[in-house]
Amino acid sequence: WSLFKGVVKFGTVAFIGYGGYAMYEHRHPVAQAEVDPTKKTIVVLGSGWASTSFLKAVDTDEYNVVVVSPRNYFLFTPLLPSCTVGTVDVRSLVEPIRFITRHKSRDVKVYEAECTDIDPDNKVITIVDNSDVKGTKAQSTINYDYLVIGVGAQNQTFGIKGVQEYGCFLKEVWDAQKIRSRLMDCIETAGFPGQAPEEVERLLHMVVVGGGPSGIEYAAELHDFLIDDLTTWYPDLVGKLKITLVEALPNVLPAFSKQLIDYTESTFKEQNITIHTKTMVKEVREKEIVVQRPDGKQDTIPFGLLVWATGNTSRPLIRDLMAKFPESQTVRRGLAVDDWLRLEGSESIFALGDATATKYAPTAQVAAQQGKYLARLFHQMSTRDELESQIAAGSAEDRAKKERKLQKAKDIKPFEYSHQGSLCYVGSDKAIADLPFGPGNLASGGVATYAFWRSAYISNLFSGRNRALVITDWLKKTAMGRDISRE
Ligand code: FAD
Ligand code: NAI
Repeated sequence: WSLFKGVVKFGTVAFIGYGGYAMYEHRHPVAQAEVDPTKKTIVVLGSGWASTSFLKAVDTDEYNVVVVSPRNYFLFTPLLPSCTVGTVDVRSLVEPIRFITRHKSRDVKVYEAECTDIDPDNKVITIVDNSDVKGTKAQSTINYDYLVIGVGAQNQTFGIKGVQEYGCFLKEVWDAQKIRSRLMDCIETAGFPGQAPEEVERLLHMVVVGGGPSGIEYAAELHDFLIDDLTTWYPDLVGKLKITLVEALPNVLPAFSKQLIDYTESTFKEQNITIHTKTMVKEVREKEIVVQRPDGKQDTIPFGLLVWATGNTSRPLIRDLMAKFPESQTVRRGLAVDDWLRLEGSESIFALGDATATKYAPTAQVAAQQGKYLARLFHQMSTRDELESQIAAGSAEDRAKKERKLQKAKDIKPFEYSHQGSLCYVGSDKAIADLPFGPGNLASGGVATYAFWRSAYISNLFSGRNRALVITDWLKKTAMGRDISRE
């Protein structure tokens, strides 16, 4: 027993000591080496999954690195739907990009700006400060030796009229904040004295378009908010707030296995979330959507809040770049890259994540693995360049040794994706998981899967700081409920 107590004591002291040291080290990064003009410069576009994973792994002893992104932080998107109702705070999901770059061995320049043009002939990009506060100079150019494009994608609207004006997207921090604020506004407006019953019904109708994982997770979070909190603070709402999900295909979550699709649809039914499948939104008006029903007839559905989650399309920057390579960039979905993530048609541009059109789904898992792979590839390229510059020097034996090393450095393996499984929250503390298992697949759904979902997301968060904040948010929500103030 005393041995056990001794081990526990030692473990606690070691844990606190290590945690304290990690925190100290995080807040007191050591001085960095200066930018070295003799080294090649990699310009990285974006601070999302792909670029951040690249930045974490790239060796700044070997290259000068410059980051350009209109947002100065990384966002952990898998928990973004939780922010729309206040289960998790948005600040818990973001990681300032300088928390990463400041810990690199060499100074990494970070510019909060949008890249608006890429000139592949002259290896130069144009950047613009598109934030609210601008100085006298808000446009500049940066030269690169290598360009890494990780700008992601933008929301797909299929050019449907009214989506941009009246719909809310779910991609960025400000989208989640807008949804949260609009939801509370709809609820408070519905309670305005003398509001007509049909207007109350419209204001309390929350419509989600798109039955992919984003739409499903948002509807699930909204349901939990309604059951756990809104019915307590707005007893008049009971039975009045309705959630409807509209999906063009015959079922939701087409990428998941059949039994999990059925499980999700039956869970939604139990939660009183209506799903309209084979129903295509044709137009969005200020207070209603126009849909085409499975029988081909058009109908309208009034809404108070509309969340639009119908997937991705390429950003204008990517479309412009593709137009500069008419021979090799012919896939409309995004940038075509080879198996080494090199842009088809260019030797010095690499692209990864949602900005590309590959055989993989546009997910964080793929983007993060590509980022890590690309950093390894750059390391091998640096080793190769170094050996090539030295190969002529030394004795014959030395040269043979270097030649063997050079051959190894030139043998760069192509990118291979390792799928870790797909997870989706479906509400009422239940989640679904499609996990690779041996040669097949393991499909599971329920409360135990939700515990797995939580632990998987906690372990995938980018930093210990984010982990501590998200766990605190979850505990806060359980103990005190969600906040219903309209910010
Ligand atoms: P992003 O992460 O979108 O990053 C793009 C970056 O580029 C951003 O920093 C942006 O500011 C910057 N940028 C944009 N334009 C420019 C420009 N012109 N110049 C410079 N920088 C620019 N995937 C999963 O695998 N699991 C999940 O559970 C999951 N959940 C999700 C939940 C939601 C709500 C959403 C929206 C997506 C989810 N995804 C999930 C998908 C995942 O987020 C994307 O696949 C992933 O973000 C793609 O990474 P990326 O780096 O290519 O793009
Ligand atoms: P998605 O592309 O997965 O799904 C969009 C859905 O909208 C499709 O089912 C489509 O049929 C439907 N749709 C399109 N137009 C429509 C219309 N006019 N009317 C009605 N329905 C319409 O998009 P989503 O959910 O935004 O996801 C994007 C990417 O992010 C995917 O690769 C997804 O796997 C990933 N993601 C993963 C998550 C997870 O693993 N938990 C969570 C969220 C996103």
